[in-house]
Amino acid sequence: MPSLGLALMLLASLISPTSSCTDHEKSSLLQLLAGLSRDGGLAASWRSNTDCCTWEGITCNQDGKVTDVSLASQGLEGSISLSLGKLTGLLRLNLSRNSLSGAFRWSWCRPAA
Ligand SMILES: *[C@@H]1O[C@H](CO)[C@@H](O)[C@H](O)[C@H]1NC(C)=O
Repeated sequence: MPSLGLALMLLASLISPTSSCTDHEKSSLLQLLAGLSRDGGLAASWRSNTDCCTWEGITCNQDGKVTDVSLASQGLEGSISLSLGKLTGLLRLNLSRNSLSGAFRWSWCRPAA
């Protein structure tokens, strides 16, 4: 017979509307922010003492992993940090209409030839 406590915990995690981000996800996002020369006001929302799942443009899954980074037309300038590659749960990334450049290589997204 399965433990009632475990079943309740599982149930609670399924119905819980909020998930809080892991330290790993938070630090990867903060590194991304640090690489920008202009953050378009993001720093006001991306504060290290708050849950990164509530940050502007960020969506997490139930495990507290970032799945969406949606920062189109935010007036961002600077370079895209390699730390973006550490967001292993990332499914969607929208950085259109910003002035970004840098180390991030889209070839990472393709299967090796
Ligand atoms: C990215 O965001 C912009 C602005 O919200 C939107 O117009 C565009 O369709 C999005 N691109 C993708 C691939 O979702």
